[in-house]
Amino acid sequence: MKATAVAPANIAFIKYWGKKDEKLRLPLNSSISMNLSALITTTTVEFSDKYLKDEIESTNNGFSDKEKERVITHLDLIRKRSKISTKAKVASHNTFATSAGLASSASGFAALTVAGCKAAELVLTEKELTILARLGSGSACRSIPDGFVMWQKGVSSESSFAHSLYPVSYWDLRDIICLVADEAKKTSSTHGMENVRSSPFLKTRLTIVDSEITDILHAFKEKDFEKLGNIIEQDTINMHAVAMTQKPAIFYWNNKTIEIIHQILKWRDEGLPVYFTIDAGPNLHLICESKNEQKILNKIKSISEIKEIIINKPAEGTKLIDKHLF
Ligand code: PMV
Repeated sequence: MKATAVAPANIAFIKYWGKKDEKLRLPLNSSISMNLSALITTTTVEFSDKYLKDEIESTNNGFSDKEKERVITHLDLIRKRSKISTKAKVASHNTFATSAGLASSASGFAALTVAGCKAAELVLTEKELTILARLGSGSACRSIPDGFVMWQKGVSSESSFAHSLYPVSYWDLRDIICLVADEAKKTSSTHGMENVRSSPFLKTRLTIVDSEITDILHAFKEKDFEKLGNIIEQDTINMHAVAMTQKPAIFYWNNKTIEIIHQILKWRDEGLPVYFTIDAGPNLHLICESKNEQKILNKIKSISEIKEIIINKPAEGTKLIDKHLF
């Protein structure tokens, strides 16, 4: 009863910010994302009588007690569904800095769900796996299907799931991550979106999001990069406008973030098609087509504020592998 899964993080082109049901993690709006090839979590789960309690390990910085609790709650869900009570050992490895807004919870809960279900001999469809992953961390449901993914907000737990819109090979996009901070963020996304209703702009964003989704689906269909980029950027600004106007206000961007945003706008004025998006942290994701990757890398290498650059291609979703971590 041992299995290992590898899962990618994902970057949302249309963001999820706010829940209509906290416990079920039902989102206020549907969202769309791309899986990221360089941000990968590998997780091994083993259920065995040799474990007297759940053992949760990370080969990176270790997990806090709160994070361990979240993992155990997820194991409990898997145990309940597979009607077992056996304790488990979980070991996890990330290829990237955790909790700096780099979506470690998305890849983490996607890998835990797929490895955990396999180890517990619980056979679920991809749709069911996305629903289960969503209960661990909302955005984790988008890390399970391949390539470019949509999470339908749904009206109930069964109808709030993720599915692939297009495979990896559909569009050779890049997400060039510019890391301006690698320490843990002050406000997690789970905590951050709890007060979303206190923003006077939430209603407006939710109205706009529906038309953004229609428009971005057209942009995908027509492979219209300019249209895609503009929607991605607009939605990130809207999401952060909501966060900044919540009570208490959350400012995920820092001065380096703003400086780089100004650079990106300047490069675009000069004719370089590159757009930014930002999750719950200060780091920037520069979205471009592969043909412009090198030009952008040449530009950003001289920016001293950038601590690290991580280049991502579209990636497959969560897969089982034979090589275990222990
Ligand atoms: O699922 P969470 O709690 O990691 O929330 C994700 C929130 C954002 O990254 C800001 C947006 C998104 O849709 O990924």
